[in-house]
Amino acid sequence: MRQPLVAGNWKMNGSKADAADLLNSIKAGAANIHKAEIAVCPPFPYLYKMEELLAGTGIRWGSQDVSRETNGAFTGQVSAVMLKDFGCTYAIIGHSERRMFNAETDAIVAKKYEQALASDLTPILCVGESLEEREHGRTEEVVARHLDAVLEGLGAEAIGRGVIAYEPVWAIGTGVTATPEQAQEVHAFLRQRIRAKSQPQADAVRILYGGSMKPVNAMELIGQADIDGGLIGGAALKASDFLAICAAAEANA
Ligand code: 13P
Repeated sequence: MRQPLVAGNWKMNGSKADAADLLNSIKAGAANIHKAEIAVCPPFPYLYKMEELLAGTGIRWGSQDVSRETNGAFTGQVSAVMLKDFGCTYAIIGHSERRMFNAETDAIVAKKYEQALASDLTPILCVGESLEEREHGRTEEVVARHLDAVLEGLGAEAIGRGVIAYEPVWAIGTGVTATPEQAQEVHAFLRQRIRAKSQPQADAVRILYGGSMKPVNAMELIGQADIDGGLIGGAALKASDFLAICAAAEANA
């Protein structure tokens, strides 16, 4: 049985004060969550607060990106070693917004994934197709390519040490959610592709759904056989919404 994970991707939102408020509310509400796992991924500058604010809770934290390099003259980048030093458990890798706005290729994503693993961070590998790709029937081809960058490049064991997030680009921040059936179909496809390399890794790896997940649709999405939680954007910025999604994961744990 895979432990459900609900991870909040705060993206580039909030302030120091907002982050503290949000975490305090999540902390209070999370006292009722025992079986599902909760994580928050704030912007880099707020990571230093996580250790202090989340001490003694089971809530974990992570980054939204990591450098593909180890250390040195890479202005503006943050290494996996640094993230580990700040207590991160997770690192989101290859989010579609980074692929789009920072020209991250599959090769770069694989290097970042490798850096995360080398520092004992758990990478959350984002995969997902655009609306145009879906309309042209290319969903499986695109998510397979995103997955294979790691599965073929680093192996099934590397996939097993991470988490996958299926995030259809057309559902991110749009209010349009993939139907539970649409999402389940892609999740099953991804798991099957991993199974072709390793049955145990396929059975163990958690595949999250991301894209306009909210309290109203979380239960049905997370209730699908191959959906093991959510990577939450907008709804992760409102404690009550985020906690309602965590409660849906708890009910499915
Ligand atoms: P929304 O939940 O705002 O659609 O964002 C999803 C996402 O991109 C999480 O990484």
